[in-house]
This record gives sequence, C-alpha cells and structure tokens, in this order.
Amino acid sequence: PWEEGFVNTPDSDPAVEGHRAWVRAALTRAATSRAGTTGRHSATGSLVDDAELLDELLARTATAGEAWGRRPARERAEVLHAAGRALEARRPELLEVMASEAGKTADQADPEISEAVDFAHYYARQALELAAVEARDGVRAVPARLTLVTPPWNFPVAIPAGGVLAALAAGSAVVLKPAEPAQRCGAVLAEAIASALAEVGAADALRVVTVDEGGLGRQLVSSPRVDRVILTGAYATAELFRTFRADLPLLAETSGKNAMVVTPSADLDLAARDVVASAFGHAGQKCSAASLVVLVGSVATSRRFHDQLLDAAASLVVGAPWDPRTQVGPVTERPEPGSALHWGLTELEPGQHWALAPRALDVPADGPEAALAGRLWTPGIRSGVARGSKYHRTEVFGPVLGVMTARTLDEAIDVVNDVDYGLTSGIHSLDAGELRRWASRIQAGNLYVNRGTTGAIVQRQPFGGWKRSAVGAGTKAGGPSYLLGLTRWERTDDAD
Ligand code: SER
Repeated sequence: PWEEGFVNTPDSDPAVEGHRAWVRAALTRAATSRAGTTGRHSATGSLVDDAELLDELLARTATAGEAWGRRPARERAEVLHAAGRALEARRPELLEVMASEAGKTADQADPEISEAVDFAHYYARQALELAAVEARDGVRAVPARLTLVTPPWNFPVAIPAGGVLAALAAGSAVVLKPAEPAQRCGAVLAEAIASALAEVGAADALRVVTVDEGGLGRQLVSSPRVDRVILTGAYATAELFRTFRADLPLLAETSGKNAMVVTPSADLDLAARDVVASAFGHAGQKCSAASLVVLVGSVATSRRFHDQLLDAAASLVVGAPWDPRTQVGPVTERPEPGSALHWGLTELEPGQHWALAPRALDVPADGPEAALAGRLWTPGIRSGVARGSKYHRTEVFGPVLGVMTARTLDEAIDVVNDVDYGLTSGIHSLDAGELRRWASRIQAGNLYVNRGTTGAIVQRQPFGGWKRSAVGAGTKAGGPSYLLGLTRWERTDDAD
C-alpha cells in the first residue's frame, strides 16, 4: 500500500545529553526573548488592513495556486518532503517560539513538532497516491486553487502545518491566518515550508496574513476567491463562518467534551497517570483533553483511585513554560469573568465540590514571568458532577477535571455520549468484553484504549470528530483520506 515506508518522526529524548542541551538552550532563549518580540517580520507574511489589498493578495495567491496545481504530484511530494526536513531543522527555533509565545512546555512542544514533520512526509505520499488513482481509474483530482487555513492557538505548529501541507500536497495554494496568540509560531513554520517551495520557484503558493478578526477576517473567510477553508477551533466559530457565507466549503475540526472511563478491571496506576496527563497537559487546553473522568462500580465507591488521582494532580509542577521543571504551563488567555474558562475554574454547581481547588499562582512583577500574571493555575478536580449539569456538557478548555460516577459500564457510556460533542474518548479496562462494548457504543471520532486521549499520532491515529466536533467533510487529519476532502474528482473524459 501507498503508506508503506512511512515512519513517524522520533521526538527528542531528554535522556540523551545532546538533546537535553539544545532543549535547555532553546528554553533559555525563550525566557529572554519574551519581551518585545511580537510582530516578527516574516518573508511570507504581512499584516493586511485594507480590503482592496486583501483581495489583491487573495487573487495573486489563487493565480499561484493554478500553477502549483499543474505541477506533477511527484514534484509536489518532493517539496513536501523538503518541507518536512526544513521543519525538523528548525526544531530548536520552533520549540523556543512555542514556549515564549504559546506557553508550551518542552515536553508538549517537542512531539507537536514531530507531528508537523510527520504531516509533511505523510501527505507527500498521499499526493502520489492521488496521482496513482488518477492514472488507474481515468479520473482527475482537481485541486482547490486557494485554501484558507485558520488554525487555533493551542497547537500552534502541528495544526497549521497540517492544514498548509495537506492543501499544498493536494495542489492548492494556501493563505494561512495564524491564531492571534500564535503568530510568531505561524511565521516560523511558514518560513520553513516556504523555503522548500522557494527551491522550486513556488514560494508564492503560500502566504501568511494577519487581519483584524472583526472586519477583514470576515472578508477573508467569505471571499469567493477562497475555494476551501480548513478551520480548527470552536464549534461557534464554524457556525459564525457559515453565517459569513452559507455555501462555504468548510473542513472543520471543532470543540469537544471528552471523557475517560475507568472500570474495576483497569490497571489503576496507569489510569491515574493517563487521566492526569490528558486532563492537565498544556493546562487542559487541547480539544482532545479529558475534561471528565467517569468512575465505574467499585472504582467509584472506593477512595483508592480517587486519592491516586488527587495525589497525581496535586504533585504537578505549575510554572513558566521555559522552566524545564514545569509540567503545567499557563493558560493562554487570562480567565475573564463571564468566560467558560473563568466559570470552570471558579464556580461550582449544586452537589459539586472541589476535591482539589484550582488556585492562581502569584508571579514576580518583573522579568519574563510578569506576562504570566493570572495565567498560572494549579490543577482543579471537581467531584460530584451530575449528568446533565452545565459542567458535564460545557467545554472549559483549562486545567479542570470533573469526576462523574456510574454503576455500570453501560451507564458510563450513556453519560459520555450525553453531550453535543464527540471528539476523543478513552477507557481504562483490561476486560476484552468491556472494551468491545465500549468501542461499539461510544460516539467519538478518536477512541483510545489504555492510553490518554491526547496526542494522536499521524497515520496510526487519524484525528477527527463526530457530532459537533466536526463540520463539513469529516475526513480525519493524518489519515488516508484527508486529501480527498480538499479535492474535486472529475472523469478524465469530462475534462475540457
Ligand atoms: N491532534 C491533537 C491531539 O490529538 C488535537 O488537535 O491531541
């Protein structure tokens, strides 16, 4: 099969002295480069604040897309492989900017860079497969001319890289609009990809734009020059985009309210480790994060697992992302009263109590830490979350975990499914019958057994949701059919 030979890129290994040294150096630079580094100049990017200029830029990029789409798949695939190597070469720079700008600790940032590299090599192979299907079946895969990629800030490298690389692989030019809190990350990764495009004289197939999200953002999304939009973000954003343009060809990965189930047959030590990592990694700000844990039967009625969970969460080191000891970094936006994050961190509903109350840490008023004021929160665990409560169904996107209980596995499955979203879902159980029952009934795109719910691996765990966690084609990122969502098929004898 076409995927043969694809190998996931290894992460850096902190046990290897050479790796440790460059990671430390990158983190040190992140701490000192924090101040005054916003608005980095970039060869591929521009701040656009004029409607006419924006339209011109879109027109030019769409024209570049026509030329790019005519290039043979083999050539595009080679550019993608070169982009993967360029991203790998910039691993230290990406790690630095992810820590300084996006609040990512090294243990979170490093695998994310690997994922971006994986996307390049994986979609390169998929571009060749599209060409093979064309040759075999007498069809033509007509690419979009221009794809708009609007990623979130929580995976400021892997998600934009995935969208950009997939669109380029499919033969489309790309306009990337990085999320506002992650623009430098977007600029660095775009430079890496652009360097590969430039080698074949196709640098104009990728543009980075920064627009004010109110006015020109709307023009950007609704422009008829844009043939496809790849959005990763909140479900509400996908709905908003649809109000801009009803026929918007949208490929959207949206919100989640993800749960892990722990049954009495589970290895409780592993379960505690994975629940804590899934709930509090990157301060809980992943669409894939576990926001709920549902304890089944004796796991619910005994204190043992509950206490393990509390101890594990309470032991996490919260701090600056550039401090190598930190396990939980900052939330990206200071929780403002009225926001779901503020509510999730500070308010309880009737019947709930804090098994572990979240607390904002004080930070020094001077130095790089000052930017973290109000953003460093210790992990919170709320017990007594009832089915149908607001916490059960609301995406909080922060370092909070809700504990729910169920008498039986079937009841737990009903609870997990009783939300609007269906992105990731996990179970810890060593009983094959339980696993089968769970897997056949759970409504979520990514199901994880005896593992955490975050960090899907390209090719092995194609990533995408169900229900309100996906809008549009619903093809999975890092999976065998992703480029199909970016392509229109024509029979060869229909063409021209
Ligand atoms: N792909 C990421 C994960 O699996 C989420 O976007 O955690």
